[in-house]
Amino acid sequence: MCGIIGYIGKSEAAPILLEGLRRLEYRGYDSAGLATLNGGLSIRKCKGRIANLAELIAREPICGSIGISHTRWATHGGVTDENAHPHFDQSGKLVLVHNGVIENYQTLKEALAAEGHQFKSQTDTEVLAHLIGKHYDGIGGGATRKRLVEAVRKALKEVTGTYGIAVMHEDVPGVLVGARRGSPLVLGIGKGENFLASDVSAIVGHTREAVYLRDYDIVSLDGEDFEISTLNGGASGFEISKVELTEDDVSKGSYPHYMLKEIFEQPDSLANALRGRLSLEESTAKLGGLNMTPTELRNIERIVLTGCGTACHAAMAGEYLLESLAHLPTEVEFASEFRYRNMPMNKDTVVFAISQSGETADTLAALRESQRKGHRTLGICNNVASTIARESDGGVYMHAGPEIGVAATKSFTSQVTILTLLGLLLGRIRHLSTSEGIQIMEELQAIPEKVRSILKQSDYIKTIAEKYSYAKAMMFLGRQFNYPVAMEGALKMKEISYLHAEGHPSAELKHGVIALISPEVPSVFIAPDDSVYDKNISNIEEVKARKGPVIAIGTEGDTKLAKVADDVIYIPRCPDYLSPLLTVIPLQLFAYHLAVKLGCDVDKPRNLAKSVTVE
Ligand code: AGP
Repeated sequence: MCGIIGYIGKSEAAPILLEGLRRLEYRGYDSAGLATLNGGLSIRKCKGRIANLAELIAREPICGSIGISHTRWATHGGVTDENAHPHFDQSGKLVLVHNGVIENYQTLKEALAAEGHQFKSQTDTEVLAHLIGKHYDGIGGGATRKRLVEAVRKALKEVTGTYGIAVMHEDVPGVLVGARRGSPLVLGIGKGENFLASDVSAIVGHTREAVYLRDYDIVSLDGEDFEISTLNGGASGFEISKVELTEDDVSKGSYPHYMLKEIFEQPDSLANALRGRLSLEESTAKLGGLNMTPTELRNIERIVLTGCGTACHAAMAGEYLLESLAHLPTEVEFASEFRYRNMPMNKDTVVFAISQSGETADTLAALRESQRKGHRTLGICNNVASTIARESDGGVYMHAGPEIGVAATKSFTSQVTILTLLGLLLGRIRHLSTSEGIQIMEELQAIPEKVRSILKQSDYIKTIAEKYSYAKAMMFLGRQFNYPVAMEGALKMKEISYLHAEGHPSAELKHGVIALISPEVPSVFIAPDDSVYDKNISNIEEVKARKGPVIAIGTEGDTKLAKVADDVIYIPRCPDYLSPLLTVIPLQLFAYHLAVKLGCDVDKPRNLAKSVTVE
């Protein structure tokens, strides 16, 4: 997911643009660049980190109080200086930065080349810059804001694919133009200055009001004002929102990494997920955002949960939760599969799209496909103004606060908590008794403090991580509610430490997995004192018999695990259905400490982006 910042106002643009790019670093990128306008256009761009770009600008300063900047996560074209954004048009008077994929760029490029356009890069973005420049020159007349906006409009009408863009033209020095379709773009409203950003976290230090642009919006802004219209020229019913985020929210504070901060925020983020959603008098959950009446909720016959990565693992836990608490048939599908699968679903099937960012392309596509077939589609998102949150028929916000680290941590536990609340709500209008409802609520309310007690073991878990840092591969194994946690633990390990890690149901060992067990391949067993505890113990013994090291996650007071496993991390006792909220915590810390030991870039792991807004 690329990052975009635009600035127009009275201050020097370059420092503000660089600061904004640094706040977007967490999203993952491989090159960066910026352009300013001060009489003429100046561009500085290079592959590698933003620090490289800052050094380049220190060597070759550029000035101007209007500018655009970009962090690129390569889709079309390799990681090179030339392919970094911004890109010029043919005239060299227009520059553009872009987040998204122009799917018909080859066709457009051939047509432009036939008219004499010459391209310097392999990117789809440069084609869009040339297309806008061609329309700007074609419209003719004076160098006006309207002419630039119309050139952008004409060009975007020829485009298929996704875009979030910021555009500047040398002949129209007092104007920035932005537009979006499928990639997020925010207008930040300042005092005597205005901003564009692909994520509001990049400009929290400069604005307390924002407009979250919607698909097909085109915005033009100067230092004092802005105008928004739609691609077909109509009025955009935009809203100005308060920016609740603060600089503290998006800073690491005293933590060495965002990931560790967010792991330790979980007692609070879980409390936020529960806040105002438990009704003691009715001994059930209250989820008003679903926008469904009790009758509509009772008529649900099947639920489909979809998402990507960690969100899909939360969905897998949700499957067990909804079947157990609400006796509702539930199915989970990776969003990237769901969108093309054409799954038979009767009219009373409800689809939940789960996404921390609310911008994941596959999950958004799965949502739109469900709506296309007439299904009520609900979102479980963290980013309030995100596309999935806005396009859903309703949903439940995670209220987890910004999750900056690429590796999802608090978003997983918040998503599972919300799915538990959903199970309680749907169970209580079907078969759960009042006393059962109260018991579930009391157990849920005890979770944040239980998580806090596990976090106190971070140093101990660090010693275990360092003990096993020799591993070249790891197995994560769990059963029932903890099979999804095994999948999540493996994902955490692989994405930040680059170790080969696999998650499996424990019983799958016999069906092939055990062939991989050796002294060099530790196995992490999630074996709390639950209904399948003895089965896990047997699996651990099978691994030990083949000299495989075993790290176990067990329940406080368990005296058996320490006799069979090499190392044990204990968690407080809780009901089976809540155990994912506790068993995942040691796995998050285990992966974190091992990645740090290996010297990996924990917050910005290689090849990964925080939100994958392209297919
Ligand atoms: C998980 O640690 C990764 N960051 C990734 O798998 C992520 O969960 C996935 O891309 C989905 O992101 P979303 O929740 O923002 O849709």
